[in-house]
Amino acid sequence: MTRRDFINATSASYASLLAWGLLQPAPANALDLPVNGKQTDGKGRKVIVLGAGLAGMATAYQLGKLGYDCTVLEARSRAGGRVWTVRGGTKETELGGTPQACSFENGLYFNGGAARIPHHHQLTLQYCRELGVPLEIFNGNNEAAYLFNDGGTGPMANRRIRIKEYHNDMRGYTAELLAKSLDQHALDQELTKEDVEKLIDFLKNEGDLNTAHLYKGTNRRGYKTKGEPGAGPTPGDMADPFGLTDLLRSGFMQPVFYNVGDYIYEQQTTLMQPVGGMDAIPRALEKKLTGKILFNAPVTELRKTDNGVRIVYQKDGKPQEVTAEFCVCTLPLPMLKNLESDLSGTIKRAADFVPYIKTGKIGLQFKRRFWEEDDWIYGGISRTNMDINQIWYPSFGFQGRKGVLIGYYNFYGRAEAVGAMSVAEREKMALEQGGKIHPQYPAEFDNSFSLAWHRIPYNAGGWATYDEATRRKYYPALLEPDGNVYFAGEHTTYLTAWMAGALTSAHRTVEAIHARVGAYTKK
Ligand code: PHE
Repeated sequence: MTRRDFINATSASYASLLAWGLLQPAPANALDLPVNGKQTDGKGRKVIVLGAGLAGMATAYQLGKLGYDCTVLEARSRAGGRVWTVRGGTKETELGGTPQACSFENGLYFNGGAARIPHHHQLTLQYCRELGVPLEIFNGNNEAAYLFNDGGTGPMANRRIRIKEYHNDMRGYTAELLAKSLDQHALDQELTKEDVEKLIDFLKNEGDLNTAHLYKGTNRRGYKTKGEPGAGPTPGDMADPFGLTDLLRSGFMQPVFYNVGDYIYEQQTTLMQPVGGMDAIPRALEKKLTGKILFNAPVTELRKTDNGVRIVYQKDGKPQEVTAEFCVCTLPLPMLKNLESDLSGTIKRAADFVPYIKTGKIGLQFKRRFWEEDDWIYGGISRTNMDINQIWYPSFGFQGRKGVLIGYYNFYGRAEAVGAMSVAEREKMALEQGGKIHPQYPAEFDNSFSLAWHRIPYNAGGWATYDEATRRKYYPALLEPDGNVYFAGEHTTYLTAWMAGALTSAHRTVEAIHARVGAYTKK
C-alpha cells in the first residue's frame, strides 16, 4: 500500500495526517525557530560575525532572514574555513612553511577539510537541500581496499590484504568458535534450545559456515587473480582462507586497522558529499550573503562596550573599527587565544586549554586511476600503521583518465611528524609508504598538494578534542554569551569535527539572540 493509497483509503487529508504527527512535514527551511520573538524584532539590529566559515555564514544567513543587519569579518580571501576544496590554482602557505600552489588537472580535487556527510546529519543535508547543493555518495567502506601492516612479522605482515579477506575470515572463525561452544552446550545455562538454534542460524549466515558449522572459506573474500567466475568451465577459483592463528598475529588488531567504518555512527553508510567538492556548501552560503562578508579582514581586538561590542580588524594593513549591538565569534579557539579582548576569564581559559587535534592530508594526482583499473577499488579507504595512516580513493570521476587520491590522512603524533616536514618531504614520504601498498605509485605520479591543519593560518588546529575534564571545565562557558558576545563553531557543540556541529551552533546562537531581543526593546 502506498502512502497515497493509505490516505485515499482512510480519506484522511495530508493536513490532518500532518497534524496527527503521522507524516513528516515536507522539508522547509533549514531554520525553524521556535519563535520567541517576533519576526520583526531583528530589524536593523547590528551584528558583527567573526569568521566566514559554516558557523559564521549560517549565523549571518539566518539572522539576515530575521531582519538583522550582519557583517561578517573574514581573515582570508575566501569563505568556508575548514570546508575547503583543493583544486588546480589553490594556493596556501602554512605557518613557517613555503608557498604551495596546486596544479591538479581541471576537474580533479580533494576536500582538504570536511569530506563526508553522515546520513543522520540532517541539518547539513537540509542546508544542502535549501541551498540547492547536489549530493552524491561518499563511499567510505570499501571491502576491496587494503590493509597493510608494515614492519610486522608472520605471513600477513608487509603485504597488502584485502579488507574483505580479513573481515570475512575473522567473521567466519569467530562465528565458528561461538557455534562450537553452542554445539558443546557451553551456553545452555544462558539460552533456551530454541534460542541456541536461532543463534546458530545467525552464525551460519554471518560467518558463511558449512553444514558442520565450520568456516572453510567463502567467496565473500573474493577469488584468486584470474579466478573470477564467468563463462569458463569452472564456477570460479576461490582462494583459501588465512589461518586463524595467522589472522590473530596479523597485527590487524591494532586500533589503526579497526573496522570503524562499518560500525561507528558517523561512518556507517550512507555518507554523502557535494558534487564537485565540499566547498559547494560555503559557496552557496556565500551567495546568500552578497556584500555582507568583508574578506581579508583579520580581527585583532574584541571589546565589550556599554551597549554592545567594538571590534578592531585589519584592512589593507590599517586598523579599522566597527561597533554593533552583538558579536558572534566563530573563531577557532587557537585563534581566539591570540585575540586581544576583554572577554571573561572562563572564555579565555577555554581558548587556552581546550586542545585541538593535529591532522593533515595530501592529495596525490596520478596519470592513471590504477586503483580502479588494476585493483578494482572505487572509493573507500585503505588502512596502514605507517605514517600515512589511510589512503582515500575518490568517490567521483570513476573510470576517468587521471585521478586524485588522498595519500595520507593522519592525526595526533603522526600528523605532527608529517606536518613538520617540508612539502617536498611529505610528498616523498607519501609516495614511499603508499607505494608499498600500490607499487604503481612511482610510475603514475603527477603532483601533490599537502596540508597540516595545525599549521594553517587562521586555524592552527584541526578541531576541538574535548575529554571529560575539559568538557566539564570549559565547554559550558562557550554556550553562554559573554556580555553581548556569543560563541559558535564546531568547538561549541557535541558534534566537534563536523559541519553539522558548526551549523547547529549557529542555530543555537541565532535562537539565543532572537529570544533575547524579543525580551527587551532596543532604546
Ligand atoms: N569529521 C572528520 C572526518 O570525517 C573527523 C572525524 C573522524 C570525526 C572520525 C569522527 C570520526 O574525518
